[in-house]
Amino acid sequence: MNLTIRTVEAWEILDSRGNPTIEALLTLSDGSQASAQVPSGASTGKHEAVDLRDDDPARYQGKGVRKAVDNVNGPIASALSGRKAIQFDVDRFMIELDGTQNKSNLGANAILGVSCALARALAISAKLPLWQSLAGKASPILPVPMVNIISGGLHAGGQIEFQDFLIIPHGFDSYTEALQATVAIHRAAAELISESGYPLTGVADEGGWGPRLESNETALKLLTKSIERAGFKPKEQVSIAIDAAASHFHDGGIYNLQSETRMLTAEEMASLLRQWVDRYPIVSMEDGLAEDDWAGWQSLTTRLSDRINLVGDDLFTTNPNRLRHGIERGVANAVLVKMNQIGTLSETFEVLEIAAEHNYAAVVSARSGETEDSFLADLAVASGAGQIKIGSITRSERLSKYNRLLRIERDSGLVYPGRQFLKTIGTRRANHCKPTRSP
Ligand code: PGA
Ligand code: ZN
Repeated sequence: MNLTIRTVEAWEILDSRGNPTIEALLTLSDGSQASAQVPSGASTGKHEAVDLRDDDPARYQGKGVRKAVDNVNGPIASALSGRKAIQFDVDRFMIELDGTQNKSNLGANAILGVSCALARALAISAKLPLWQSLAGKASPILPVPMVNIISGGLHAGGQIEFQDFLIIPHGFDSYTEALQATVAIHRAAAELISESGYPLTGVADEGGWGPRLESNETALKLLTKSIERAGFKPKEQVSIAIDAAASHFHDGGIYNLQSETRMLTAEEMASLLRQWVDRYPIVSMEDGLAEDDWAGWQSLTTRLSDRINLVGDDLFTTNPNRLRHGIERGVANAVLVKMNQIGTLSETFEVLEIAAEHNYAAVVSARSGETEDSFLADLAVASGAGQIKIGSITRSERLSKYNRLLRIERDSGLVYPGRQFLKTIGTRRANHCKPTRSP
């Protein structure tokens, strides 16, 4: 059947921080109808596609998204009405309609809402679960979660500088068991934090604990002990991941660990991170250095790429050009994949394909400002990325994704690749070739 798009519309909703975001609704010519909600970051990378805001101080402190909503209801709706419902063509067409490098005209939030609503409507029309419809030729696989337990940085009032201290529950036979272990560790962490005399004041933006600690390394000590207290073996069953989000404490070539009154160069940061890898069961380090510190990143990659995954988030911003540039420069060996950093589903898949082709690991990721939409869980499964990062196991904008994965595991019979996970660590050496042009 020759499916076409009948209507597209959008409206303003609220995200998990109570900030406005977009919900888009799309109807196909066969009556299939689906909506999608768009997330939003706080510790955003400089090179992300534009999350279009109204800048009208009279509404939501300027964070309203009525302009983006109007762009869906106006130019996007009239341009798409009657067009063939083919994901790649529609995404490409919206990119052309926007006409800018960073989607600043229509807004990546407007475009992404429509892109994801189309994917869902196509799945409904094909009577397939979303993950199966999205998978196409890829081999779907359940993802191993990377779960936030302790937060710092911009997500927890800047108590410590490093943003996320996470666990990876890989030593389990199923996703269901891995999730149960995660909850036990989250609880053990709360006990340990309180017993150690750090007041627990609710949860941070991604649902993890955000205590005021005396140093960044204290979070690693607490996390390792929490794994043990919950009855699991660090490294053998559960490993640690860090998201330093270092762009956000980097200024003038210096990494400022204000909570520890220490200022470090890129080389000193790389040494510190290496010491931590020696001392703690760390297998993954995201944004260990800042988004434009390519030289620092090259040195960090040389030192650590044969031991852990070095994940670029702000560094690559899910941008095919930045990822290609990183690969050419021998920078990092893994990429964080956030749909709204680039703004269409097709470009997201392009990044996943480039990563797979160059043996870079890929982690499909939520934002700190999320919605109850569980699209990401299906995307992680469909892409075969093998890893997902959603935040902690509290707050329903996180649980909608964790719970969706429980359902997919139950329905699909797909295998949980946790026990293979450690075998891939240290095998993703970046190829250190000569730098070419800038991205
Ligand atoms: P953000 O943070 O969604 O606030 O950008 C998430 C991350 O840095 O991974
Ligand atoms: Zn990050």
